[in-house]
Amino acid sequence: MNDDQPSDLRPATRLVQAGRRKEWTGDLINVPVARTSTILFDSVAGMNASYPPKDGRGSYGRNGTQTHWSLAEALTQFEPGAAGTKLFPSGAAAVAMALLTVLKSGDELLMIDSAYGPTRSFCDDVLAKQGVTTIYYDPRSSPEEIAALCTDRTGAIFLESPGSLTFEVQDVPGICAMARDRGIPTLVDNTWATPLFFPAIENGVDLTILACTKYIGGHSDVMLGSVTTTERFHDALVQTYRSYGQHVSADDAFLASRGLRTLGVRLQAHQENALAVARWLKGQPQVDLILHPAFEECPGHEYWKRDFKGASGLFSFVLRAGGPKEAATIVDRFKLFGIGFSWGGYESLAIPTSPHRSTNRELKGRAIIRLQIGLEDPADLIADLEQAFTA
Ligand SMILES: Cc1ncc(COP(=O)(O)O)c(C=O)c1O
Repeated sequence: MNDDQPSDLRPATRLVQAGRRKEWTGDLINVPVARTSTILFDSVAGMNASYPPKDGRGSYGRNGTQTHWSLAEALTQFEPGAAGTKLFPSGAAAVAMALLTVLKSGDELLMIDSAYGPTRSFCDDVLAKQGVTTIYYDPRSSPEEIAALCTDRTGAIFLESPGSLTFEVQDVPGICAMARDRGIPTLVDNTWATPLFFPAIENGVDLTILACTKYIGGHSDVMLGSVTTTERFHDALVQTYRSYGQHVSADDAFLASRGLRTLGVRLQAHQENALAVARWLKGQPQVDLILHPAFEECPGHEYWKRDFKGASGLFSFVLRAGGPKEAATIVDRFKLFGIGFSWGGYESLAIPTSPHRSTNRELKGRAIIRLQIGLEDPADLIADLEQAFTA
């Protein structure tokens, strides 16, 4: 959004306007793809004045060009209350860098048990070697239950709401208020909802992470991550970003910016299509549970109703009979759904899944299928599910 534009624009309007400063776009409607390693200066004095680097001031390729600053500014403006955003080469890198920003050796990290798998591996493999102990908490934990796990060594609380694969929704404002009272930083992986359906900073989070690979890009053609913070953590995030030599290509930043402009309409369509498919599944005798935040049977549904502005297109369902082998058999029969990881693109995908959990093994051994519902006509997706069930 240009400086002279009112800050009270509604989120969908902000998505269209944000980051398109005249000084970055010139006469073009979109910010151009500005690729470079080197910025040239008119004088040594000019070169010296470019330090310390900051967004909007060219210094060196790794510190970004208008293509990066534009996307970072748009993502910041998308999160009311945020101080700034840094871009990372993937969502997984964004998670890792956000954790490294707040943690130090000797800390304990309270990590949601339904975290995205590679987030879990980063804690167990990398943070463990750096002297950080990870304690997994049940995704259904109340703020009081999480408070009971806090010690004077607790360095951060990591949330993911809804959780990966099993979609438990957390009391994010309650947990963050409890953490803030104790001076403990909170981080959330907000990839599922995006700030459009859940403005995380407004809900009390200190650092919010997006795998822009998913809905922000929206077309399955870019890998990118972002971390947006409050004022308190912004300088520390920038320091981590620089120290670890993070950078993304201008081409990828451009693709994510292009995706952002249509996020509003795409998310609405993902929501409607996913709800149509989930409601149909709910009526099928083969299906036991729908793990979708908008369904009452999904743990934390009440928090989704209270705090979220919508539901995106990713959810799981549990078959009444069988286990992982039966889930795989069903997925193998799909003709329209692709079989593949990732989500948030225009195309529908399916995977059979067996979530790894430390605190709650209720779903262990069950036949669980995760669906990413894309932008196809939901009637065709339902027909594909029907033929797979009856084959
Ligand atoms: C919830 C969640 N967070 C983070 C990531 C990581 O994103 P990326 O694949 O861009 O590294 C994923 C990827 O599937 C994810 O599902």
